[in-house]
Amino acid sequence: MFRLVPDSDILARALLRSCTPPARPIPKCSIASVSAVFHARNEAEHVSMNNTVETIQVPAQITEKWQEIIDLLAEMLHVPSALIMKVESPNIRVFVRSESEGNPYERDERACLNTGLYCETVMKTRQLLLVPDALADQEWNANPDIKLGMISYMGVPVAWPNGDIFGTICVLDAKPNAYSELYRKLLFQCREVLQTDLKLLQASAELELKVLERTAELRRSGELLHEAQTVLAHATRVTTLGELAASIAHEVSQPLAAMSLNATVGLCSLDLENPDLSEARDALRAIVMDGNRANDVIRRVRALAKMNDIQKMPLDINDVIKEVMLIFRQEALSHGVSLSQELASAIPQVLGDRVQLQQVIMNLLMNGIQATSAVTGRRHELRVRSQEHGPDHILVAVEDTGTGIEPQNVDRLFSAFFSTKLDGLGIGLSICQSIVEQHGGNIWGTSNSGVGSTFQFTLRARGETSS
Ligand SMILES: Nc1ncnc2c1ncn2[C@@H]1O[C@H](COP(=O)(O)OP(=O)(O)OP(=O)(O)O)[C@@H](O)[C@H]1O
Ligand SMILES: [Mg+2]
Repeated sequence: MFRLVPDSDILARALLRSCTPPARPIPKCSIASVSAVFHARNEAEHVSMNNTVETIQVPAQITEKWQEIIDLLAEMLHVPSALIMKVESPNIRVFVRSESEGNPYERDERACLNTGLYCETVMKTRQLLLVPDALADQEWNANPDIKLGMISYMGVPVAWPNGDIFGTICVLDAKPNAYSELYRKLLFQCREVLQTDLKLLQASAELELKVLERTAELRRSGELLHEAQTVLAHATRVTTLGELAASIAHEVSQPLAAMSLNATVGLCSLDLENPDLSEARDALRAIVMDGNRANDVIRRVRALAKMNDIQKMPLDINDVIKEVMLIFRQEALSHGVSLSQELASAIPQVLGDRVQLQQVIMNLLMNGIQATSAVTGRRHELRVRSQEHGPDHILVAVEDTGTGIEPQNVDRLFSAFFSTKLDGLGIGLSICQSIVEQHGGNIWGTSNSGVGSTFQFTLRARGETSS
């Protein structure tokens, strides 16, 4: 049928044939162009399939099955060669060859298309080709396979379910052979088996493609969600603490600077040989005024923290906790802290401001993460609990396995600007306290009997009147 590189004689004849109109009505053309024609025909309806078909690999167990079929075919038809050919444009490859005696074709042998092969015609016409005696046939007496001693041929095209050509299944003989009707039927039956396998392969490849696409889609959504959670967790803290810190820094630094200037002026006035008491008094008055101003600023900032303009609505605190946990999970994971929850079922609703209550839980969780990060040699865990508390309150607790609370700090935890952290503002718990009190509750923190500490707060259950 072919050799890897056709010798010059065959090549010359092949080229000649490709320029000369064939004697038979069947037009010749290269497999490349055959393949292009078939592709074009199916392109509109099978764009995605074409891509799939090109990359589908025939697995070993199917190749083994095809090997048995092709061996049987050669044996039953008493021919030296039965083949399954595969188009791999611009070549055609021996995909499976019968292990029969005298078979001149080797597995994986490739030949250039457009050389007048029997198989080219089969694929072009998409029909059975029967050449009983090529030597006696003007159309075929110069074809490349004669060089290999193969002078008769019978082959049919093998196609993917979308119509693309896979290749051919064929038999060749070293002597004239008319191949009986029964043999033809047998060849068609073998082709049916091959095409059924290709159908299954294409279906499973398409399914695999869909799974891959869906997985990629899910991964993309997961990444976007993670991004959004990180941004939200960060933004919520930044807007609260960042804005407060900025206003404190800006508003307090001016009176402080003025106070230190006036103190210097006062001291200079007193240090004079004849102390200027009046000027010293003025300086001290200015210091008092600036002190009051700084105090006002702090009060205003605290009022801001209280956020008087709150919007209360009936809430299930468990929902609020779950929302925060969802946002916080990544933050915790990135610090190597595991988060867990133990939420009471059927807990009474509260009348509250969702965003503010989220703030409280977030601040407690953030403190918990920081407290656990400060210790080594034990598991870093945070647990959020919710439960009823007395007849008219609910309680939320955040337990950690962190540093615990130094006894001398217990009374100062909720004071504004109390912090034991290098970069702490000392505002988180103070804000929590303001919010919790606005919701008719209390907040407190204690060291655990084991390791770490627990910060818990109560909220008035819905329907209860304020005390
Ligand atoms: N879970 C905890 N374990 C141990 N100590 C804690 C815990 N939570 C708070 N503290 C102590 O209380 C102090 C005040 O906490 P607070 O949240 O008000 O401020 P901060 O965390 O230091 O700074 P920020 O204003 O950034 O929140 C902390 O500096 C820390 O000493
Ligand atoms: Mg804090």
